[in-house]
Amino acid sequence: MIILKTSEELELISRAGQIVAECQKVLIQELKPGMTTLDLDMLTETFIRDNGGIPAFKGYRNYPKSLCASINEEVVHGIPSQRVLKDGDIIGLDVGAIIEGFYGDGAVTISVGEVSSSIQQLIQVTKDALSKGLEQAVVGKRLSDISSAIQSYIEPHGFSVVRDFVGHGIGRQLHEEPQVPNYGKPGQGPRLKPGMALAIEPMVNMGGAGVRVLEDGWTAVTSDGSISAHFEHTIAIEAVGPPRILTACA
Ligand code: MF3
Ligand code: CO
Repeated sequence: MIILKTSEELELISRAGQIVAECQKVLIQELKPGMTTLDLDMLTETFIRDNGGIPAFKGYRNYPKSLCASINEEVVHGIPSQRVLKDGDIIGLDVGAIIEGFYGDGAVTISVGEVSSSIQQLIQVTKDALSKGLEQAVVGKRLSDISSAIQSYIEPHGFSVVRDFVGHGIGRQLHEEPQVPNYGKPGQGPRLKPGMALAIEPMVNMGGAGVRVLEDGWTAVTSDGSISAHFEHTIAIEAVGPPRILTACA
């Protein structure tokens, strides 16, 4: 069942999403070669708590940290560690916060120092694919119109859409129905209604679509070792017009 949210509930998701967005802004400002992903995790937890939120990921299915920090061939769910960031790396920063029981969830991928033009293009295509999906997130469209728009934007660039992880409904739980795949035919699945809150999150690999999970039980990496990028927004379907993006800086 897809749980529709009241405007009061959306306001709480929005407050959580605002913390996510501002936290990402701080991480991007602070990030530089020589830092560890644990440093970024500490910044994340401090920022969320200082702003009255609870880190959403810490303790979720025993995930140990507040941040998911996924470097290069890591697709999602990289666990912060003593690993040192170096010039030429790219890093996905996935942040979740809870306000009064409601979740906000968002991710960005950025480069550390200088990266090749093909990696810059991977990042840009992934970001733009999310925008293409958001364009379809309007009342009366069907869920798979979002999925299809994302896939059909990505593949002509020669990149692959990850299948093994998908976007999701969000609210009192981090993961609610429906699942939001980043691939599929248009015109299928439930019709989009006002009050739906969705986390849309394309994951794009430079090589093949395959991924595997490392021994730590969390870190998903590309099977072929190719570089991967990830962007995510929590959004609300509006009565008319484009969706409200709840994880963008106000
Ligand atoms: N944005 C990710 C997701 O929706 C982050 C979850 S990390 C976890 O799945 F540790 F909380 F699982
Ligand atoms: Co998510």
